[in-house]
Amino acid sequence: MSNWQELESKYFMHTVERVPVTLVRGKGARVWDDEGREYLDFVAGWAVNSLGHSHPVVAQALAEQARTLIQTSNQFYTVPQIQLAELLVQNSCLDKVFLSNSGAEANEGAVKLARRYGQHHLNGAYEVISALNSFHGRTLGMVAATGQVKHQKPYLPLPAGFINVEFNNIEAIKSATTAKTCAVMLEPVQGEGGVNLPDDNYLAKVREWCDEKGMLLILDEVQTGIGRLGTLFAYEQYGIEPDVMTLAKGLGSGVPIGAIMAKDSAAVFVPGEHGSTFGGNPLVCAAAYAALKFIIDNDVVGNVRKVGQYLMAKLEGLKQKYQFITEVRGRGLLVAMEFKDDIGASLLTACLERGLLVNRVKPNALRFMPPLIIGNGEVDEAIGILDKALSSVV
Ligand SMILES: Cc1ncc(COP(=O)(O)O)c(C=O)c1O
Repeated sequence: MSNWQELESKYFMHTVERVPVTLVRGKGARVWDDEGREYLDFVAGWAVNSLGHSHPVVAQALAEQARTLIQTSNQFYTVPQIQLAELLVQNSCLDKVFLSNSGAEANEGAVKLARRYGQHHLNGAYEVISALNSFHGRTLGMVAATGQVKHQKPYLPLPAGFINVEFNNIEAIKSATTAKTCAVMLEPVQGEGGVNLPDDNYLAKVREWCDEKGMLLILDEVQTGIGRLGTLFAYEQYGIEPDVMTLAKGLGSGVPIGAIMAKDSAAVFVPGEHGSTFGGNPLVCAAAYAALKFIIDNDVVGNVRKVGQYLMAKLEGLKQKYQFITEVRGRGLLVAMEFKDDIGASLLTACLERGLLVNRVKPNALRFMPPLIIGNGEVDEAIGILDKALSSVV
């Protein structure tokens, strides 16, 4: 154990079971630990480093902006914030943007927006229906929206106004809808829940139901947005448009930023109703603008589709080879491999020892969410390591 790991246990709150590696440097899809060991990174900062680690375009934008203007109050106009908002709007179906610092904070703001909408248009309706097995963040409100007992139980009582129903079941949403419902909030594909894909027509049916009832459809694209599924936004793959969408993770390719986006009809905040000291500051916006512009200009999303298909085919190949792999599922570069037994932790360690970082999304499943810029060669390398790791745990 390095000295850093001892110091961590002395000084840092124990909120996470860390992988015993201290990372000190990253470049592209690779990271290095404090002993100089190299790893291929299929975690990517938890689906964050869209352009890989320390991409020159992001690093340069950060350096230039750091020398120019880092932070001002949101009382003033700043150029990178407006440039980023324009780029997001021009490349999505939404009309307005609010910038936050994280995914949870974006979702929290989206629910506040939905409640204001309910006050304006739905006789004060305030309840939000979300899904079991979802993940929307760690604030108290988002813990209530997150349909997982393990995240809720330690923090009871939770804020009122959230109802969790079965994912991929339109009837469950219909039964939970009352005159008090102002919005349905869903991840298009559940990431933390285990990469759970809905049926192709589920989101269309939810859209129809929201339209019928005049409720907002909030899509939490914190994990699926910015190309991860092979389109810039996941909603594009399901033939619908949300009223409100949240983003974070991949948006800044590593810098902490989140966004609420809304149709003009749903963008009902007026001055003073929402805000953030750091949200949308020039430093993070310059980096996110540079990252998003690079992603759009270089068809990084096309790469996700191509390499994602290749990764899926290779993982399917491993499934043919190992009977204990029960399923490979996902879209683009958000993919999970599930096993008969709870071997996720030993597989993670076996991969780590061989130089591959993966995520154990469930006791019996691994998740792969590499940078969006990886190529087939890196997939081959990862599959080679995973193959050895799988044969070591049989
Ligand atoms: C779909 C989704 N929403 C929200 C969040 C929370 O984002 P953050 O950790 O930036 O608050 C996550 C994080 O994993 C997520 O996957």
